[in-house]
Amino acid sequence: MKKYVIKGLKRKQTLEGVYTVSGSKNSGLPALAMSLLFKKEVTLKNIPEIEDIFKLSEILEKIGIKVLIKKNTFKIDSGKISSSKIDRFLGGELRASLILTGPILARTGSVEFYFPGGCSIGKRPIDVTLLAFEKLGAVISGRGDKIIIKSKEKTLIGAEIIMPVQSVTATENIMMTAVLAKGKTIIKNAAMEPEIEYLAKYLNLVGAKITGAGTPVIEIIGRNGKLLENNVPEYVNMADRIEAGSIAILAAVAGKDITIRHFVKDHLENFLQTFDQIGVKYEFIQKNVLRIKKQNIKSFKGVNIKTHEHPGFPTDLQSQMGVLLTQAKGESRIFETIFESRLDYLSSLSRMGASIKKWNIYQAEISGPSKLKAKRLMALDLRAGFSFIIAGIVAEGKTTVDNSYVVRRGYENILNKLRQIGVDIEEI
Ligand code: EPZ
Repeated sequence: MKKYVIKGLKRKQTLEGVYTVSGSKNSGLPALAMSLLFKKEVTLKNIPEIEDIFKLSEILEKIGIKVLIKKNTFKIDSGKISSSKIDRFLGGELRASLILTGPILARTGSVEFYFPGGCSIGKRPIDVTLLAFEKLGAVISGRGDKIIIKSKEKTLIGAEIIMPVQSVTATENIMMTAVLAKGKTIIKNAAMEPEIEYLAKYLNLVGAKITGAGTPVIEIIGRNGKLLENNVPEYVNMADRIEAGSIAILAAVAGKDITIRHFVKDHLENFLQTFDQIGVKYEFIQKNVLRIKKQNIKSFKGVNIKTHEHPGFPTDLQSQMGVLLTQAKGESRIFETIFESRLDYLSSLSRMGASIKKWNIYQAEISGPSKLKAKRLMALDLRAGFSFIIAGIVAEGKTTVDNSYVVRRGYENILNKLRQIGVDIEEI
């Protein structure tokens, strides 16, 4: 298993340079799935070359889809689909492969996959997606963790679906499925993440009829099985707002003068408000270009963070913010409301010297500032893994982060990009 070795700056703030945020993992994945709705080849640009994207591409190839990758441009031809079975091993490796189930079902009338299972941040149930498929006229059967879904009619039938919880992937999955269904679908209690609105905007450009994406109620007028034809203009993926926020936090605690390109303000309003509350100074020197100069970290104030579905504070930035809060003065409270195991990283920060009280699996208190000392850590999920890189940079000594693979799943070319702004990091 490969690992990162990071030489700490011992709270010095020396990082400087320009950091360019890549295309988004969490809109790139649904974009690959979206290509199944097209009759012809679709060109997707600014897709990050990361493990999760490669894995989803492999799953598509296994069902007969042609995928041509040239740097960050993916040409996907779904003209012929040879199977509606998602590869068990690859699907198990990538739970986000669930995003393919709706488009495959809508396209072929059936889909077969294995329950993707939980991961280090939580159980990750898929009940919302299965409930929605049934509402659209599908029959679900299966043995053990094998799930077989078949459409009763030739096409799925549009329906009103009230989502029990706001689920990002379930909303994307059902929105895409409804594009090919017969009649109107209304999704209530839809998730409102920017990735959903972005996907709907492009689908409408190429012939879908979706209104309300980005609000709790989305309406889709189905095409009764008619595939999307014109894939012009090409799809250009949005920037990765979670990478952008991750780097902004690194710049706040260890930066001398960092400029972040493709930091989309509208995608991170709650995050920036938290920066304001802590006292992090930043400036947009151009549209989507954020500059963070050397901070007076002693002036950082502890704050309360409660993660929440968008437009709340993003759970994917919670652990990175937790590291920053170990350097802020006073008490900070973290309430992780989305994933039951997403505070697990705090025990590693305690080992490094942070002062943390964990009340229960969802709530904890951080008292700062603390001096962090290098330790050997294990990356649990990609966001906690990136948080350990930030902690290692702040700390004194050489921090090791085992299982660097999980970080590479979601951060494109991260080693070189960190080195370019002066981080002393290697992957061995
Ligand atoms: C997406 O996961 C993201 N992944 C996650 O990012 C992100 O943390 C999450 O949304 C929340 O913002 C992708 O977009 C590929 P959910 P998703 O369904 O869609 C519960 C990262 O680090 N739930 O919105 O799987 C679930 O347990 C990853 O990039 C059900 O109960 O998340 C959780 O508590 C990690 N039943 C909550 O909803 C269901 O059927 C939100 O999950 C589905 C979800």
